[in-house]
Amino acid sequence: MHAEPAPERTLDPVLPDAMMNLVKPTEPVVGRVTRNESCMRGKSASFVRHIAIDVSGTPLEGNFRAGQAFGVVPPGTDERGRPEKVRLYSIASPTRGEDGEGRILSTTCKRLIDEFTPQTGKDDKERHDLFIGKCSNYLCDLNVGDEVLVTGPSGKRFLLPVRPNDHDYLFLATGTGIAPYRGMVADLLEGPDGPVESDIHLVMGVGYTSDLLYDDTWRELAEKHPNFHYHTVVSRELLPNGDRGGYIHHFLDRQIELHDSLIRSDRTLMYMCGLAGMQLGVFQLLARLGLGDGYLKVKEALADTDPSEWDSASIKRHVRPTHRCMLEVY
Ligand code: A2P
Repeated sequence: MHAEPAPERTLDPVLPDAMMNLVKPTEPVVGRVTRNESCMRGKSASFVRHIAIDVSGTPLEGNFRAGQAFGVVPPGTDERGRPEKVRLYSIASPTRGEDGEGRILSTTCKRLIDEFTPQTGKDDKERHDLFIGKCSNYLCDLNVGDEVLVTGPSGKRFLLPVRPNDHDYLFLATGTGIAPYRGMVADLLEGPDGPVESDIHLVMGVGYTSDLLYDDTWRELAEKHPNFHYHTVVSRELLPNGDRGGYIHHFLDRQIELHDSLIRSDRTLMYMCGLAGMQLGVFQLLARLGLGDGYLKVKEALADTDPSEWDSASIKRHVRPTHRCMLEVY
């Protein structure tokens, strides 16, 4: 009797072939809202809603994956009288959809409400009237039963690997950047192939505790699955020691026990979704701690510059994520 040779363990993830652009922006299809509710932990200065859309009977049905995005075409015309363009939203549902059958997808939408800020030299510098984002507020205003024009899906890299048990996971989110993880964590822990045994750490960065999104869901999952760990980083509130909560990279810097057990491990995949500033902070931290090898490649032009001097523009040009680092930052 001879033993089968052990399969070689791949450290780089193999990603699935995700469907792309089945519905083009020029020919959107009609979806119908099935749920629209706040997904914030408490009363806050911002408004974020979980919106579910039935896409059954359209090419999107059964053909989207957690981690991908879909498009929404708001009604009406833009300020120059042209039809509104499509806007992309992260899919917040698992690959099997909200309904388990791939018919209903969802997203996490924050109302864009701001003061007008000049964007180009042509804009009046004194303008500071209320600015209300068109598509986010359109989506958040929709009622159950309303129709909405949708497109997609899109995105082929911010995905879970085909052999999920081969890896552990560090999911980093700021604000609505949490959306894809709602689906991915559900795929890993509650998908048809049973819960993975991998270690999963989800780190959510928000301004205030009231801004935590899907907080109950994460707490329930952490209760149920000992391999799922939920961490919150609240930038504008104080820690018990009187320090500010800070940003995600400050948290990772403090969590020394995660450095060897998770970040240094070549099984680990790191995902970042949210503000671009998070990518800079995390890349600088990894480089400073000598933990960056598996996640980033620094080109020669920046190799001799101290990471504390990197900025968003220089990392965009000279630092590349590896196959173990997935980015969706804006
Ligand atoms: P803060 O606003 O206190 O500076 P938002 O809800 O606006 O998307 O923000 C989500 C969280 O991301 C907030 O805690 C915000 O902090 C934080 N944040 C802002 N800039 C960065 C950055 N450069 N790196 C990481 N987190 C950031």
